Amino acid sequence: MSYPRIASLKTAAAFRAHLERSGIPLGFDDMLDPPAESPLAEPLEIDGGRIGNRFCILPMEGWDGTRDGAPTELTRRRWTHFGQSGAKLIWGGEAVAVRHDGRANPHQLMLSASTEGAIASLRDDLVRSHRDRFGSNADRDLWVGLQLTHSGRYARPDVYDRPAPLAGSHHPVLDRRFPGGVRVLTDDELDRLVDDFIIAARRAYAGGYQFVDIKACHGYLGHEMLGARNRPGKYGGSLENRTRFMRSIVEAIHSGVPGLEIVVRLSAFDTVPYRKRWDGSGEAEPFDGECGFGVVRDDGSLHAGLDTALEEAAAVLRMLERLHVRWICVSGGSPYYNPHVQRPALFPPLDGYEPPEDPLRGVARQIAATAWLKRACPNLVFVGSGYSYLQEWLPHVAQHAVRTGLTDCVGLGRMVLAYPDLPADVLEGRPLRRGSFCRTFSDCTTGPRLGLVSGCYPLDRFYSERPEAGQVKMVRAHDIQGASR
Ligand SMILES: Cc1cc2nc3c(=O)[nH]c(=O)nc-3n(C[C@H](O)[C@H](O)[C@H](O)COP(=O)(O)O)c2cc1C
Ligand code: SF4
Repeated sequence: MSYPRIASLKTAAAFRAHLERSGIPLGFDDMLDPPAESPLAEPLEIDGGRIGNRFCILPMEGWDGTRDGAPTELTRRRWTHFGQSGAKLIWGGEAVAVRHDGRANPHQLMLSASTEGAIASLRDDLVRSHRDRFGSNADRDLWVGLQLTHSGRYARPDVYDRPAPLAGSHHPVLDRRFPGGVRVLTDDELDRLVDDFIIAARRAYAGGYQFVDIKACHGYLGHEMLGARNRPGKYGGSLENRTRFMRSIVEAIHSGVPGLEIVVRLSAFDTVPYRKRWDGSGEAEPFDGECGFGVVRDDGSLHAGLDTALEEAAAVLRMLERLHVRWICVSGGSPYYNPHVQRPALFPPLDGYEPPEDPLRGVARQIAATAWLKRACPNLVFVGSGYSYLQEWLPHVAQHAVRTGLTDCVGLGRMVLAYPDLPADVLEGRPLRRGSFCRTFSDCTTGPRLGLVSGCYPLDRFYSERPEAGQVKMVRAHDIQGASR
C-alpha cells in the first residue's frame, strides 16, 4: 500500500481532501497566524515558572557518547541545535542511563560521578547557544531537563548488537525475540534501582537541570513495569503494584532532591507487537492473554479502542498528579515493536516494515490521545509527540492543536534533527525551508541499528559527509529520490 507524499499535498484543500477521503480525524489551520498573534508564541505560566512559547524539543539520543557515558562533540552539536531551535522547553535532551546495565547501547550517556560534570556542561552549551541566538536574557523563560532511564528489556550496554535484557516482566511475544532469554529483575533489584534514580536525579540537579523526566515510554523499563500484569509480588499485577516502581522513584526524588521538578514521558497507549510480513508490510502478531499497558485491542483503525486503552493512562496520570507531577509528555508504543505507532514514517528503518497504515493516522492517534488525556486530567500540562511526519503541515496542525486546547505544547523530534530552527522560523514569521523538512527516511533510526551514530544523514550535510553515510545508504531499504517532490 502506498500513501501520498505530504509534499504533494500542496494546498489546504488538497490536504483536507486527503484526510477526509482517508477518514483521518486531524484538524489544522489553513493559514498561520502572524507571530504576534500565534498561539504557538504564547508563554505558559505554571506554578510561578514561565516557558516562553509552545514548542518543545523531545528527547533524542545520538548513540554518540563515550564508552563511560560522557557526551562527545556530536552530542554537543545536537544540544547546541536544540538551544538554537527557538523552543523554550527542552524535554530531557536525550535518554540518560542511571547505571551501566541500563544503557540501551554502549554509547548512551550515563550519569555517574565521572560524567556528571560533562553532562552538566551539555546544558550550559544549550543555554549558551540559546542566548547567543536569542539574546543575553533569553534563557529566563527556557526550561531544560534531563531524561533519566533504565533500558530494561532493550539494554545493550556492552556491544551494540548483543542484547542484555533486564525485563520488568515476561511477555509471550517479545520474549521470543531474545533467543538468549530474558531475565526479569527481582523485587530487590528494583528497590536498588530506585536508589540509582535518586542518585542520578541529585546529579542532574547539581548540574543545573531544572527537572528530570522519569522515562516511562517506548518499551523501556519504566514503561514495561506499568504493564507487568503477569509479574508476581509487589511490583506486578494490580495497577497499584505496577505503578509502585514509578511512585517510589517520584516520592524518593521529591524528598531527597527538593527543588527539582519531576515530569513523566509516558507511552500512554500501545498495540500488540508488530512484525514484518512476507510482502514487507507490518502486521500485528496475534497472542492471547493480558500483557502490556494501555494496549489498543481494536486493530482495525486503532482509533476505536483508544479511549478504553487510555483509561489506564489516565489512572496513572491522576496518581502522578497526587504526587505533584504536573507535566506530562504523551507518546505511544515503542520503536522496537510498533515503530509506525511511535514515530510515523513513510520509509521504514532497517529493522522495521512498510507502514501498515497511512502515517497520518499515526500522527492523528497521538494527537487524539493527548487531547483525550488533557480532558481527563485538566490540571496537568501536556506536551504532544509525533508531529514530524506532518512536514509542510506541521505548523498548521500545531497551531490548531494549541489554539483549540488539544495540547499545551507541541513536541518536535525528528524534525529538529533535519531542520533545527523550524520553531524560530515559525515564531519569527519567516518562510519555511522546504528542502530542510524531515521526510521520515528513518536513517536516524537505521544508523544506530547498525551500531553507527544517529543523525539526519540525508538532509544534514554534516552527517551526509561523514563516512557512516555510505553504510547507511547501502542498507537503506528504500529509494528516497523525489521524496520532497
Ligand atoms: C534518533 C531518535 C532518537 C530518539 N531518542 C529518544 C530518547 O532518547 N528518548 C525518548 O523519550 N524518545 C526518543 N525518541 C523518540 C522521539 O522523542 C519522538 O517521540 C519520536 O521521534 C516521534 O516524534 P517526531 O514525529 O517529532 O519525530 C527518539 C527518536 C529518534 C528518531
Ligand atoms: S534521517 Fe532525517 S529525514 Fe530521515 S527521519 Fe531522520 S531526521 Fe527525518
